[in-house]
Amino acid sequence: MAIERTFAMIKPDAVQNGLTGKIIDMIEQNGFTILRMQKLKMATEHAQSFYAVHKQRPFFGELVEFITSGPVVVMALEKENAVADWRKLMGATNPAEAENGTVRKLYAESIGKNAVHGSDAQDTARQELAFFFYDL
Ligand code: RTP
Ligand code: MG
Repeated sequence: MAIERTFAMIKPDAVQNGLTGKIIDMIEQNGFTILRMQKLKMATEHAQSFYAVHKQRPFFGELVEFITSGPVVVMALEKENAVADWRKLMGATNPAEAENGTVRKLYAESIGKNAVHGSDAQDTARQELAFFFYDL
């Protein structure tokens, strides 16, 4: 399998709940190298652009409001098969459907406040990495 990069975010609910360290530990214990990492608060226009693919969805406003509600931690991760493996470690979008041992099973509160984000394919990973890290 090829070495890949993916984009990861610890969302405001998990940062607020003091879970940053625990989630970073899970990432490292599962073999990912953290290439870049930053804590920041997204501006509304920044969040609308990041989630533009969901613009027409009924939950778009709520999603932008939530993701801008407090600081997030953004990361560039590297590993063999990183895109799919980070999605697997995150667990299902809805924590009620997430497998045992996944970040969302352990730490997500709801489908909206679901602790983490991960790119869903290699091309979106490239876009999302470039969105936050000028040199990736
Ligand atoms: P993410 O993009 O955050 O990694 O999550 P995902 O791929 O598992 O889910 P996606 O379909 O891309 O949805 C993006 C985020 O929108 C929120 N959402 N809310 N209220 C709802 O029905 C609903 N559906 C999705 C979630 O926070 C989801 O992570
Ligand atoms: Mg998604």
